[in-house]
Amino acid sequence: MPTKTVVATTINGDPVEFLCEPRQSLLEVLRDTLHLTGTKEGCNNGNCGACNVLLDGVLVNACLVLAVEVAGQRVETIEGMAAGGQLHPLQQKFLEHAALQCGICTPGFLLAAKALLDRNADPSEEEVRYWLAGNLCRCTGYDKIVRAVLDAADVGEIERLEIGD
Ligand code: FES
Ligand code: FES
Repeated sequence: MPTKTVVATTINGDPVEFLCEPRQSLLEVLRDTLHLTGTKEGCNNGNCGACNVLLDGVLVNACLVLAVEVAGQRVETIEGMAAGGQLHPLQQKFLEHAALQCGICTPGFLLAAKALLDRNADPSEEEVRYWLAGNLCRCTGYDKIVRAVLDAADVGEIERLEIGD
């Protein structure tokens, strides 16, 4: 029986403790132990972006992070993106642009796009495409996703102008 470790972390703003084996990935623990199944498993080897989460604000592939590594860190998953029942502007724009079909890639794209807009609130189309290059989608052809991200950036720009930021 492998030894398990207690890991204390913060997930979507809430303190969380879980038990895991040293070999287990963050993706495995999120989905199978904590039942946060919004984070998807695609390739399980760092090539598709379906498992993207933010770790202390940095975009990572949860399949490549050991769960024990998140001790003391802040994990953000797709379950934390809508605040108080209000969709994040990126989620809203993905819906409006029909930027999803089967939806397997969508949480990863949303987290990746959030990481981009958190750093660069007004990216060019080229910057959006470059940033999202690590996320694969077999359905949409990418254009709708890029339009949704650019549109969400415009919403953020309007909100900043309205509050005089
Ligand atoms: S499942 Fe992690 S990058 Fe594909
Ligand atoms: S919507 Fe199906 S893989 Fe992207």
